[in-house]
Amino acid sequence: MNISEIGNKIFYAGVNNRTTELFEELWPIPNGVSYNSYVVVGDKVALIDTVPACYCIKFLNRIAAIIGDRPIDYLIINHMEPDHSGAIQIIRQKYPNIKIVGNNKTADMIAGYYGITDNLLIIKENDSIDLGAGKSLRFFLTPMVHWPETMMTYLESDAFIFSGDAFGCYGALNGGIVDSDMNTDHYIPEMYRYYSNIVAKYGNMVQAALKKTAPLHIEYICPTHGPVWHDRAAEVVNLYDRMSRFEAEPGVVIAYGSMYGNTEEIVDIIASELTKAGIRNVIIHNLSHSHISQVLADVIRYKGLIIGGPTYSNSLFPPVDALMKALRLRDIRNRSIAFFGSYTWAPAVTKRIEAELEHLKVDVVASPFNMKQAGDSDVDEAARIMARTMAPMVL
Ligand SMILES: Cc1cc2nc3c(=O)[nH]c(=O)nc-3n(C[C@H](O)[C@H](O)[C@H](O)COP(=O)(O)O)c2cc1C
Ligand SMILES: [Fe+2]
Ligand SMILES: [Fe+2]
Repeated sequence: MNISEIGNKIFYAGVNNRTTELFEELWPIPNGVSYNSYVVVGDKVALIDTVPACYCIKFLNRIAAIIGDRPIDYLIINHMEPDHSGAIQIIRQKYPNIKIVGNNKTADMIAGYYGITDNLLIIKENDSIDLGAGKSLRFFLTPMVHWPETMMTYLESDAFIFSGDAFGCYGALNGGIVDSDMNTDHYIPEMYRYYSNIVAKYGNMVQAALKKTAPLHIEYICPTHGPVWHDRAAEVVNLYDRMSRFEAEPGVVIAYGSMYGNTEEIVDIIASELTKAGIRNVIIHNLSHSHISQVLADVIRYKGLIIGGPTYSNSLFPPVDALMKALRLRDIRNRSIAFFGSYTWAPAVTKRIEAELEHLKVDVVASPFNMKQAGDSDVDEAARIMARTMAPMVL
């Protein structure tokens, strides 16, 4: 059994999932995902978060390899989502005297999910638990990053923070646990995707959490998914700070639908004109083919968004409709937006997109236009004007 000591008496006890196709039954994970759990050993032993129920046996064996026959004194629950709380019942069976540590919102969920109402230790903001041997855990409540009960656990003596889903990303851990031991470049795009898919709506709450952790001395960030951040800790904190403020990089995402290629022709004209105007990041997503998880990642990453699509049964072409719903679900803000539509007998797209955008704090920066059937020189010119109008706003 592999044992990874990632700090002084701080061990990794998590598991990899390389079989599930869709995380949360929604988000593709071609490179897998890890569910991270950690063991901190002082005079007393604390286990921080668990794994999905299907990995229970592996998990128990892993813990036994770390602590042998010693009991676990505390199980810290930073997050109750079942990918992290799934092994609570079996942990209680093996360690009947374990104290489960959470806040009052955790208590409600642990009763509802697992019928557990005893041996709970309910903590409040800034409470701490002394494990002895110089190790003490302090708790910071970080609601809605990503559920109401979410909290972070800080091990001051070693400057470790156990951050729950915050700073997490898709991607299994392939040998290394800490970023210093491996090339982590491929995890960074997966952090955009993970954040935009799962956390994005709660930007304000992420900001509140970052304010709480800012004064702490942190050397190691231990999230519940993906690598432990040490060398790149400042970089990922900065990335979370920017994403949660909806700050973005220069560039434009063009997200479109097209059944017969006429709308797509306009997309190519806009993209070419954006490039002529100096935009170096032009990302085009055909919404019938790109997965929405990647479209959202790019919307979070870049300043500009252009949406186009055909009228469909007096409404939006369904993949464009799905994008509009996904943007609303995440309260996407601070983006420069433009849009256009196509139709054959009665246009509906631009009005529908306009109505959807009214719910979002975004700037519509260019006049929408409609193409009847196929393009002509007027439509081509409207497309070029749209690109030239947007370009200076997203540089
Ligand atoms: C199932 C279906 C429903 C459509 N509904 C409408 C409609 O309600 N109003 C309209 O003007 N055009 C409608 N159209 C025509 C399309 O909007 C038109 O083919 C499209 O704008 C052409 O762009 P494209 O080549 O990019 O697909 C419909 C087409 C299909 C296939
Ligand atoms: Fe979660
Ligand atoms: Fe999670």
